[in-house]
Amino acid sequence: MKHFAYLLTTLVYALTCSARAVGNARLMPRAGSLEQVTGYGDNPTDVDMYIYVPNNLASSPAIVVAIHYCTGTAQAYYTGTPYAQLAEQHGFIVIYPETPYDDRCWDVSSQATLTHNGGGNSNSIANMVTWTISKYNADSSKVFVTGTSSGAMMTNVMAATYPELFAAGTAYSGVPAGCFLSAANQVDAWNSTCAQGQSITTPEHWADVVKGMYPGYSGSRPKMQIYHGSTDATLYPQNYQETCKQWAGVFGYDYDSPQSEQQDTPEANYVTTNWGPNVQGVYANGVGHSVPVHGDADMKWFGFV
Ligand SMILES: *[C@@H]1O[C@H](CO)[C@@H](O)[C@H](O)[C@H]1NC(C)=O
Repeated sequence: MKHFAYLLTTLVYALTCSARAVGNARLMPRAGSLEQVTGYGDNPTDVDMYIYVPNNLASSPAIVVAIHYCTGTAQAYYTGTPYAQLAEQHGFIVIYPETPYDDRCWDVSSQATLTHNGGGNSNSIANMVTWTISKYNADSSKVFVTGTSSGAMMTNVMAATYPELFAAGTAYSGVPAGCFLSAANQVDAWNSTCAQGQSITTPEHWADVVKGMYPGYSGSRPKMQIYHGSTDATLYPQNYQETCKQWAGVFGYDYDSPQSEQQDTPEANYVTTNWGPNVQGVYANGVGHSVPVHGDADMKWFGFV
């Protein structure tokens, strides 16, 4: 009788375990396609999470967060950029966040999003990263962020609000972190002063804006690469200078004397400027809004090649 009870308990336990394993398997996103993840953590502003887990997943994978432009979606950025194919080559996971707002832009204007753990869009994206690190045993020292236009603005905001999470960032045609600030604390507000390149200040002031988003933080910060087109009529090219000033200021580089400059790099009519090992600008002469994603160059900046 005792044996029977023991057997029954073991059987029930085994059944419970396998049911749980099946449940977990169903909760884990399928590899090799874009999948939505729900319940990734606190998400007060309803940002959706999509993920691409490559078939060729590395054992302790890196993570690339790829953030869409205004009017965009996770799906559109997944199909329109090379990150998923690059994930198959290099074994990393791609997170594609998706904005909750009707204009499909990101909130880069409210106090909440411009503050570490402030409960805004940036907080939700950070929670996607920590979810992915724990579910996939990802390498927390190899987490990267990139995006285009509004997604580039958010890339700068992520680097400023969650410096401890990211090793590097690449912003395609954005504005400095804090440049779209809404004086009235509106969420997802357009700021024409900044967009038109009239928010002009010193590297020191831009650096203080970054540091003010996570007061007291003194750890490492992501190295930043800034792309911008010289004929950008949506986010005026002055935003290139201002964003490079911002990160040069954060790293204590002298903005007025960059260390090196390469013409026609990474392609004809692009000029690459290095202010130091952690800040690189890439100015695309004759290119408007937005500069195309340079996947292979991103892989170099992130250290995959
Ligand atoms: C736009 O952003 C700038 C900082 O770049 C800020 O000083 C200004 O108050 C903002 N404009 C509005 C209307 O909120």
